[in-house]
Amino acid sequence: MAKTHPGKEAPSFGGTNYRFINLTVGNAADTFAHDIARGLAAPQKYIRSMHLYDADGSKLFERITQDQDYYPTHAETEILARFAHEIVAGLAENTALVELGSGSAKKTRLLLQALVDKQGRTLFCPIDISGDFLQENVKRLSRDFPNLEILGIVADYYTGLSVLANEIHQPILMLWLGTDIGHADRNAAAGLLRDKMVPSLKLGDRLLVGIDLKKSAEPIHRAYGCPGDKEPLRYAFNCNALRRINRELGGNFITDKFQRYCFYNEALGRIETYLKSLCDQQVTVAALGQTFDFKEGELIHLHFAYKYDQDDILQLGKAAGLKLEQQWFDEKAWYSLNLFSVGQAGNQPHARLP
Ligand SMILES: C[S@@+](CC[C@H](N)C(=O)[O-])C[C@H]1O[C@@H](n2cnc3c(N)ncnc32)[C@H](O)[C@@H]1O
Repeated sequence: MAKTHPGKEAPSFGGTNYRFINLTVGNAADTFAHDIARGLAAPQKYIRSMHLYDADGSKLFERITQDQDYYPTHAETEILARFAHEIVAGLAENTALVELGSGSAKKTRLLLQALVDKQGRTLFCPIDISGDFLQENVKRLSRDFPNLEILGIVADYYTGLSVLANEIHQPILMLWLGTDIGHADRNAAAGLLRDKMVPSLKLGDRLLVGIDLKKSAEPIHRAYGCPGDKEPLRYAFNCNALRRINRELGGNFITDKFQRYCFYNEALGRIETYLKSLCDQQVTVAALGQTFDFKEGELIHLHFAYKYDQDDILQLGKAAGLKLEQQWFDEKAWYSLNLFSVGQAGNQPHARLP
């Protein structure tokens, strides 16, 4: 069993090295229906990006990460392959790894291996809304890493984090990879860290965040398949949101009547991704008892992906009340991994530039 702080119990795994807590039972369908009703009735229609992910969506995203143009995954892999042991070297003994939106957790393996090498038995707690995909990957990890104890939490980030205090009584490294922090604008991202994530951590716990960096538009466009109307894999991934509405809520979206619309807004330093209606049309969603009108050219917003410069990262730490301890970059300096600690903010980081 993992060592614990005096007087605290390690989670019990009853003979296997993994277990699950599913916090979506009974409310996932309601949340999805509620969000879709709200998003499609808004003046600027939207679908929250978390709803792109069910088992199909997660598999499609995984295929995108294998595309050679999708540099965020490759850069993050490169950094972890090179520096995982250095990243874990300064962590407290018996640190548990908590990962937000773990997906396939392929890159996470590099960090898990470094933790196991350093401290032996290690607790890993991935939190992901895509339940079937999470369970499949936890089982695979448990076979490949017998020295892990895995507590898989099927939940949205914030519900998942709310159970941490009861489940984990040891130092924590919270991991947020895939530049997912970029979905929120820079102020909102700081607010999320400060108000939703840091409260579930203790003084001295760490947060390792993958953040994509500002660069010329060309590689960004290639990575995100922009301008976007002709890229079949990313189109299939984005349309999964519409197919989910059809499957789970009795919708009658015809995906061919929507096109992907995606571009890098250089002034705001963000990718913008939408689905665009190709004609005037009406879509009925039976479970909501509602019909939604779409005009030709009307957009459904799916997500932004904000890019940061060094100043933005320093501001993020400051606004979130976190101390930026160290940074690592890929060879091209296109991408960064940022280690923050919970405590007094304000010191300058030790940056390892390529
Ligand atoms: C862009 S993928 C990144 C996956 C992986 N971390 C990587 O870097 O390749 C986002 C992951 O977070 C999960 N996710 C997205 N929004 C979420 C939310 N609000 N709560 C919980 N999980 C979420 C998705 O299911 C998906 O596995």
